[in-house]
Amino acid sequence: MKNQIVTVPAITARKNSGKKITALTAYDFSFAKLLDTTAIDLLLVGDSLGMVSQGHENTLSVTLEDVLYHTRSVKRGAHRALVVADMPFMSYQISVEQAVTNAGRLIQEGHAAAIKLEGGARMADRVHAIVQAGIPVMGHVGLTPQSVHQFGGYKVQGKTFLDSKQIKQDAKDLQKAGAFSLVLEGMPEELAGEITQDLEIPTIGIGAGSKCDGQILVTHDLLGMNPDFAPKFVKHYAQLADVIQNAVSEFIDEVHSEAFPGPEHSYNLKKGSLKQVNDGH
Ligand code: KIV
Repeated sequence: MKNQIVTVPAITARKNSGKKITALTAYDFSFAKLLDTTAIDLLLVGDSLGMVSQGHENTLSVTLEDVLYHTRSVKRGAHRALVVADMPFMSYQISVEQAVTNAGRLIQEGHAAAIKLEGGARMADRVHAIVQAGIPVMGHVGLTPQSVHQFGGYKVQGKTFLDSKQIKQDAKDLQKAGAFSLVLEGMPEELAGEITQDLEIPTIGIGAGSKCDGQILVTHDLLGMNPDFAPKFVKHYAQLADVIQNAVSEFIDEVHSEAFPGPEHSYNLKKGSLKQVNDGH
């Protein structure tokens, strides 16, 4: 899909196409611009920005204004990949009306093409109403981080028969409500595989094994920006923390040794020009 603008129907059409969907998070202009030059299909302005950009312990402090700000920044950099904005905690849980109003703001003011919200069957009425308003919705089931306190931590979900039955039902209810795709997070590969087979819409997995229709990761995790964060489901495709720390250390050394800035990085007056300027006064 390189160079071709990615639309919501194009993502839906990838189901059973034989080509997996690739998705990453983006929170700012520079990363969005860089990621958009690759063949990545989808950029999610995830509420994970609460941890990655703001340094919080979880996603619960992120506000709608935060997501709007980051979505606008990402949209200035991404002109090809599909930009999806995450609905933060308490921006859709209160009522159907609140959910539609805030989803509308992410499209109208943030310029996202679609929104994502967490929760299964109990959020189906929100999903239905938002879709009825003409806004594409990506669902998110399994380990939904906004429910971290209910789960008692970031624990893999769907390990018991009853839990897995509920997650399968959640997925079906979201599809019925009109979701165009579904994030499956933190669940056994077998369960994610069954859900993927059962649904007509594509599934995008994170910590859900290899059987989903696509995969999403937090960009900073993929790039190894925080080497201390290495859960089982993350693969560090680069060690950017090392690259950044080495570059900065080199800069510090060169400033101390006066190797930087060299003549090639300095602006110099042409010989005699200072005299002419002075003569002119
Ligand atoms: O907020 C986020 O980054 C997410 C993805 C990890 C799915 O929800």
